[in-house]
Amino acid sequence: MGGSQSRVRHWHRLGHSAIPIRIALLTAIVIIFMSLRKTTTTYLEKVYYSATATDDNCSRLFQSGSLKWNLREGTSTWRPRDCELRYRSLNDSVKCMGTHGKSGKRRYIVFIGDSRVKQLRDGMVLALTGQDYDALADRTASVDPIFRQAHEAFQTSGSSLVAAGARLRFDQHEYLDDGDGGLTELIRNLTTADEVPSLVVLGVGAWQIRQCHRGRKPQNTCAQHYSQQFRKLLPLLQELAQTTDVLWLPQGALREHFLRDGNHVNAGFTNHNMIKYNNEVRRVLGSEQASTRKVVYWQSAWETSLMINDGLDGFHYGYNSKHVMTQMLMDWICHPYEGDPELNANRPNSNYCCMLNK
Ligand SMILES: *[C@@H]1O[C@H](CO)[C@@H](O)[C@H](O)[C@H]1NC(C)=O
Ligand SMILES: *[C@@H]1O[C@H](CO)[C@@H](O)[C@H](O)[C@H]1NC(C)=O
Ligand SMILES: *[C@@H]1O[C@H](CO)[C@@H](O)[C@H](O)[C@H]1NC(C)=O
Repeated sequence: MGGSQSRVRHWHRLGHSAIPIRIALLTAIVIIFMSLRKTTTTYLEKVYYSATATDDNCSRLFQSGSLKWNLREGTSTWRPRDCELRYRSLNDSVKCMGTHGKSGKRRYIVFIGDSRVKQLRDGMVLALTGQDYDALADRTASVDPIFRQAHEAFQTSGSSLVAAGARLRFDQHEYLDDGDGGLTELIRNLTTADEVPSLVVLGVGAWQIRQCHRGRKPQNTCAQHYSQQFRKLLPLLQELAQTTDVLWLPQGALREHFLRDGNHVNAGFTNHNMIKYNNEVRRVLGSEQASTRKVVYWQSAWETSLMINDGLDGFHYGYNSKHVMTQMLMDWICHPYEGDPELNANRPNSNYCCMLNK
């Protein structure tokens, strides 16, 4: 009793010394880990699905799982597959983009969707140039004014930026359509374009949830319509997938307690709704005919957004979740070209999730 009292007094005397700070930090970390565990298990039990485009090792990083950080070694493991996510330096990323493999073609990556998809494009720009465009993820993000001026046009839908020799394009589409809209036309265009994309990252949904909510319709009815629209688009996506890797980006997890203000509540933005719409796409893709190359449902993007859940405004990705997702994409893009021993020299025996299938 007396002992603990004197300890309390002792702390008091120390004021802002390092010990209480350390304990506070430790407590904060424990609380964060506990809440992570709670949310991930709550959601993870509900979803299980995996799909592969090619049958190589990289697809396991895009399947259901969770990231475990090893803070001491600065690594992270994707479980339950127990493989390591590779974080590439700016130099490694640039080098990978410059390695064009047998085809000799430059990388052409197309991002299609709403502002959250655009954030992934910005994540890729950051990884390849060191320039951060994305104030939605990081309020201190700043772009060199000269860089910004040179790439101003890149902010509009349909424009491209060449970074480290790779072409990055973003097309803004917030809604699926009934087979006759802009999104369908874009996918059709991409299948017949002169420059075939190496990768298409595509995901829409949140705006449809909002439209449904504001129209006072039941979300179940709207989700059914969304599912029908996706079914209509699928044959075109499958056609595209014969020449291009196609990743479907599920609607990311929200930071719900940040969204209590009227605007967002009125948007129908809840994780429950995000899951509902994601499940529709997953169900359609799960019933896809077995073929050699498929549209990949990027399950680990959802899980990353849920685990890290660091959005500043509750809706957009935060810096860290975007970083992990960008590195996953980078892994997908780079691993087939990294037979180059020089690139793997740092950690030759590592257990990376994405490895060249020799
Ligand atoms: C995955 O990688 C392991 C280890 O390199 C290899 O033995 C295995 O064949 C690979 N599997 C596939 C499907 O590529
Ligand atoms: C990155 O690449 C540049 C240019 O090739 C080089 O000057 C620099 O030393 C490299 N940095 C690291 C950390 O390897
Ligand atoms: C599709 O291609 C046509 C012809 O090049 C073009 O006019 C149209 O704007 C494109 N549509 C989209 C959505 O990119």
